[in-house]
Amino acid sequence: MKKSIGAETIIYPTPVLVVGTYNAEGEPNVMTAAWGGICCSSPPCVAIALRKATYTYGNIVQQGAFTINIPSEKHARCADYFGIVSGKRVDKFDVSGLTPVKSALVNAPYIEEFPFALECKLIHQIEIGLHTQFIGEILDIKAEEGVLDEKGKLDIEKVRPIFYAPGANTYYRMGEFLGEAFSIGQEVKKN
Ligand SMILES: Cc1cc2nc3c(=O)[nH]c(=O)nc-3n(C[C@H](O)[C@H](O)[C@H](O)COP(=O)(O)O)c2cc1C
Repeated sequence: MKKSIGAETIIYPTPVLVVGTYNAEGEPNVMTAAWGGICCSSPPCVAIALRKATYTYGNIVQQGAFTINIPSEKHARCADYFGIVSGKRVDKFDVSGLTPVKSALVNAPYIEEFPFALECKLIHQIEIGLHTQFIGEILDIKAEEGVLDEKGKLDIEKVRPIFYAPGANTYYRMGEFLGEAFSIGQEVKKN
């Protein structure tokens, strides 16, 4: 029998997304967001939920654009840093030593050193409560060649993404291959 543990904001796995934006002066900033994920296939869209208190919130409202940068295991410390310091006070690119690259498609920077980035145009803004959900249309993905397979598709084994465990406040690396999607469920079907 299950036990009630209260209304907590916990699902597993939760992504570690690093949101890239420009301020009104064109200065780049990055923040970490775990409250997000893909929310539509066509048009391809991603949703992130931010508090108004973040610097990134105002940047997205002003610019109507953002990037989502996916960190590898080796970027875990930088990703955590981007989530504990505000761009209101600190130039996080300068401190981390990472490089902002201006997207050619939207007015937002992506991180050169991270394996791949989604370039997003803001298309919806939904007030929920403490958080506002921003929905961005994904106009393109820029990926390092080293994380692509022979067909030019992203290879998760090469990206080595990390995951956040809300509640415990810990990070994990990816696990082992389990099976093919839209396939292993066939074994459960009754003939
Ligand atoms: C793992 C992790 C996940 C986070 N997820 C979110 C989130 O989904 N939404 C949010 O508003 N803040 C989130 N934060 C906190 C922001 O990243 C933090 O307030 C940051 O300093 C905001 O940066 P900015 O002021 O430069 O925009 C998260 C922090 C960490 C470490």
